[in-house]
Amino acid sequence: MHFLSPVLENYIQSNSEDEPKILQELTRETHLKILRPRMLTGHFQGRVLSMLSKIIAPKNILEIGTYTGYSAICLAEGMQPDGQLHTIDINEELQDIQRKYFDKSGYGSQISQHTGDAKSIIPKLDITFDLVFIDAEKKDYPEYFELVLEKTRPGSVILSDNVLWSGKVVEPVDKKDKVTPILLNYNKILKEDKRVETVLLPVRDGLTLTRVL
Ligand SMILES: C[S@@+](CC[C@H](N)C(=O)[O-])C[C@H]1O[C@@H](n2cnc3c(N)ncnc32)[C@H](O)[C@@H]1O
Repeated sequence: MHFLSPVLENYIQSNSEDEPKILQELTRETHLKILRPRMLTGHFQGRVLSMLSKIIAPKNILEIGTYTGYSAICLAEGMQPDGQLHTIDINEELQDIQRKYFDKSGYGSQISQHTGDAKSIIPKLDITFDLVFIDAEKKDYPEYFELVLEKTRPGSVILSDNVLWSGKVVEPVDKKDKVTPILLNYNKILKEDKRVETVLLPVRDGLTLTRVL
């Protein structure tokens, strides 16, 4: 869904940083070879993630939901020179394309791929993360949030994607729709939880910026 007119979206994108060539290539290969290419973050939000990561300058980054690796590479752009990015995806068929582009990006040795359910992998990571990007199974967002909060410190930033769910969060909820009520609840949790402070940005499908207190 477009929250802004396509003309305005084009203007915003053309007055933001250009999309690096490697990410253009990854987008093309994802569209040609992988199912559901719309899941990929894309040019504008990718540059937002890159910019946020550069401002935060994280040493350790956690990503939940790698897909073909687009957002991981964007986040890695801001990582400290000795930083590490851990990214988790349940779909093992995506491992080869992820590794190909992680290596091409120059961040290959600093990116660890984890394959499996994020809910069982996160508790096993003995790392404090400075930046977390949540972008996997929407129904599990509240659980991811609790699990990652355990792995952060005051000042860590947690980003959550798709929190506007194509605008469905402000429309009457269809009885068969199981996801929108969960995201409505998730957005309320982030707003009310006294352990964090949150702003919801209208970037692409909604991107929440949450700072741990
Ligand atoms: C929206 S895509 C991620 C897109 C990616 N962050 C990007 O911007 O290019 C969501 C991914 O989450 C993965 N996923 C779904 N459930 C998961 C789970 N329980 N644990 C880990 N990954 C999961 C899917 O396999 C899918 O690749």
